[in-house]
Amino acid sequence: MIKGIKGVKDILPEETPRWRFIEETARGAALRYGFREIRIPIFEVTTLFARSIGATTDIVEKEMYTFADRDGTSLTLRPEGTAGTARAFIEHNRAADPLLQKYFYLGPMFRHERPQAGRLRQFHQFGVESFGTSDPRADVEVIALLWRFLSDLSLPDLTLEMNSLGSTADRAAYLPVLISFLKEHESRLCGNCRRRLETNPLRVLDCKVPECRTVTEKAPRLTDHLSIEARAHFDQVLAGLTAIGIPYHLNHRLVRGLDYYCLTAFEITSSHLGAQNAVGAGGRYDGLVESLGGPSVPAVGFAVGLERVSLMLPDTTTTPHAPSIYVAAFGDKGSRAGLILLEELRRAGFYAQTDYRATTLKAHLRQADRAHCSFAILLGDDEVSNGSALLRNMESKAQEKLSLANFPTLLKARIPT
Ligand code: HAM
Repeated sequence: MIKGIKGVKDILPEETPRWRFIEETARGAALRYGFREIRIPIFEVTTLFARSIGATTDIVEKEMYTFADRDGTSLTLRPEGTAGTARAFIEHNRAADPLLQKYFYLGPMFRHERPQAGRLRQFHQFGVESFGTSDPRADVEVIALLWRFLSDLSLPDLTLEMNSLGSTADRAAYLPVLISFLKEHESRLCGNCRRRLETNPLRVLDCKVPECRTVTEKAPRLTDHLSIEARAHFDQVLAGLTAIGIPYHLNHRLVRGLDYYCLTAFEITSSHLGAQNAVGAGGRYDGLVESLGGPSVPAVGFAVGLERVSLMLPDTTTTPHAPSIYVAAFGDKGSRAGLILLEELRRAGFYAQTDYRATTLKAHLRQADRAHCSFAILLGDDEVSNGSALLRNMESKAQEKLSLANFPTLLKARIPT
């Protein structure tokens, strides 16, 4: 028997209403904030991700699904959506459009991680990317959208964590200070952090190993090494959040696992999620478009993991669905008439179903119950002969005889579509 791949999940019909609800809430929130949908490819040339996310990040070093195309070109399944969106922005010369380019996307991403609750190898993100301004109000806008989306879903115990990663120059000045501090305590750091000390020292700050955390508690902070401009930008973002009533915590350890960020970095966590506690995260990436060969265009965005949203969504969340109708057609004439009636009902906008395996009324009614249909239409040979059908309320079991001629119209007066 062939099985699905580890960390790659099927979303079965019982779960898809929950997913649709999440996706529709995301779409609604993004549109309200003036973001338009973009659909970018699921795979791209590998260098796009290596150059944007960063060659020494966990994603690029260990987690990408990379394969050779038939002509030998190295391709990769997208591990996130920012790189592809920036590529599309450049390729289609969107900077020439006088409007701000604000995009959102929904779709699967792929990372070869160790699967656990809330961490998959194929997972889904809702992301937004706002190109064209370094105004701190654009940062506030994307954070507000993320906060609004998660609050619309009534997710419990959310915390917004904020940090500033400064400008490239700020980080260049800060890194030697951090490295020299970390070198003094190198023997106390875990193996991974000792390696990161050489490749990506900022990441030592967000290591979860308790001894590493004790060491870095006293480490010099990037926010104490910000230029006047970066400090002012961060202060304006924080003031903007306060002005619109979004509470936040400062977290000097928040450095993000992707290299394209500068200035604002943020993450929304929930205590309901266990080890994988980040629901959504993002930040500013003013240098990315230019580094990929485009014009100098500042940008800010976020992405939310929809599996994590789904884990936290209260079970009572259901999508209201128009009542479903079951056509219980039996007997020779009944079955023939049933085929036509089903089609008429569907064309009239009803959710109509049947089970072709059922041959008796009893079997049909059992299936109507199992499928949670609100109504059944009973149609046997006798009914066909006298030009009628019975409408049965599956809950109250009350039945009403209706003429088969213009049946959908009669039904519309009784059942909302
Ligand atoms: P990220 O922090 O790598 O950022 O991912 C964003 C969110 O995707 C995470 O907070 C988490 O909820 C979800 N996620 C990541 N990996 C997995 C996984 N293996 N299984 C389930 N969920 C996962 C980015 O991807 C950036 N592109 C965000 C961004 C957009 N920054 C600016 N614009």
